[in-house]
Amino acid sequence: MADQPDTPGRSAPFRGPSLRGEPAALWRSLIEAFAAATASSRHPLHLLTVATVDAGGGPQLRTVVLRGFDPGRREVVFHTDIRSPKATQIRGDGRVALHWYDPGQRLQIRIPAVARIHHDDPVSRAAWEACQRMSRACYLADVSPGTPLAWFPTAPLAPAPGDERGLQAFAVVRCRFDSLELLALSAAGHERIRLVFAGQELGREILAP
Ligand SMILES: Cc1cc2nc3c(=O)[nH]c(=O)nc-3n(C[C@H](O)[C@H](O)[C@H](O)COP(=O)(O)O)c2cc1C
Repeated sequence: MADQPDTPGRSAPFRGPSLRGEPAALWRSLIEAFAAATASSRHPLHLLTVATVDAGGGPQLRTVVLRGFDPGRREVVFHTDIRSPKATQIRGDGRVALHWYDPGQRLQIRIPAVARIHHDDPVSRAAWEACQRMSRACYLADVSPGTPLAWFPTAPLAPAPGDERGLQAFAVVRCRFDSLELLALSAAGHERIRLVFAGQELGREILAP
């Protein structure tokens, strides 16, 4: 199907091209958006939902912070506690699904991916070095996330610079993908596409919304 020009008045899903534009230009817009979302906690794509598969084959969802987007490797990066249920689930089955919704742009992004955990290796060490002290504090709990408690725990204090007690719990999760799906809502007609990467080739499929 030939590309059609944007419908006048419809809200563009990005500051760049709409879903009707060239796939390469769309991909560049996404790279820019995810770079900005990694850098700013106020960006609408800063938080994402990650779905994993649990030991019983059921879905498990939770919110995480976007810590990186590597367009060359096609990887979405987040940090977690190696003791958490999600880390156990990913070790059992690396298949994950990632989800964002930007209400300002009325844009949904879905990415099926395969996750790999980095723990106690050069990747996790480099990410730990770059972590803010308050982020490091999250890894100081002496019990695993999800452990039943008799009381609410006190907030951990920001560790001193050089305090590496949290490092043993700290893990980097890199989620590699070969396709992604976008849905842009509009009164002028919803648009849904899939971008598919095959080697150096980038293709686009238009889908019924
Ligand atoms: C706004 C927000 C940001 C969060 N960011 C992270 C994160 O980056 N990494 C993480 O492991 N958990 C994060 N959490 C907590 C998870 O949503 C989840 O409750 C926790 O990791 C335990 O998940 P699990 O039991 O599925 O392993 C965040 C929660 C919220 C509400």
